[in-house]
Amino acid sequence: MSTLVREARRQDWPEIRNMMAELHRFEIRHDPRFLTDSKTKDVLCKWIRKGTSKGNGIVLIAEVGEKPVGFAAGWIEFRNRHLYKERKIGRFWELFVKEGHRKNGIGRALSKEILKFFRKRKVRFVNVETHTNNLASKALYHSLGFRETIVELVADLKK
Ligand SMILES: CC(C)(COP(=O)(O)OP(=O)(O)OC[C@H]1O[C@@H](n2cnc3c(N)ncnc32)[C@H](O)[C@@H]1OP(=O)(O)O)[C@@H](O)C(=O)NCCC(=O)NCCS
Repeated sequence: MSTLVREARRQDWPEIRNMMAELHRFEIRHDPRFLTDSKTKDVLCKWIRKGTSKGNGIVLIAEVGEKPVGFAAGWIEFRNRHLYKERKIGRFWELFVKEGHRKNGIGRALSKEILKFFRKRKVRFVNVETHTNNLASKALYHSLGFRETIVELVADLKK
């Protein structure tokens, strides 16, 4: 079955909420700071809706046989022109493909569409954050032209 990548519609949001929560649970495995609770889905939904409002961003769905199997989101942020060469920066925030549909080119297809959105709006620099030991996403982003700039270090002072 072929994959269709399209812009999310209102009726996709229940499924997007579930996928966002699944992505967050996945990230907990890589980061001791994260948690999920009864409000996690609402908070994530609100954050994405705000970021992508006013045409500044996009939420994409990947479908196989009309069933959502992945999603991605990104939006433009504005930086201080005295500090940055480019005021507009593309933030590629969310990328998720359901287990069982991975390694079929869906993550790449979603990522390319996100980059297309930024290119159309004349954004020069796009950033994405991923965990150091997430080898799959790192390989994907590298293959799309992303290069590492900052490394975040976290200390657990309870230990
Ligand atoms: C990362 C993720 C989105 C990749 O989606 P996918 O549909 O499996 O990726 P694709 O099939 O399009 O593969 C694209 C590239 O990713 C890399 N890749 C994908 N899976 C990989 C794996 N298990 N190990 C190493 N590299 C991998 C490869 O470079 C691949 O290119 P290739 O097919 O030419 O070798 C998916 O694994 C996922 O949802 N993971 C959990 C959530 C996540 O990590 N999101 C990103 C957080 S920022």
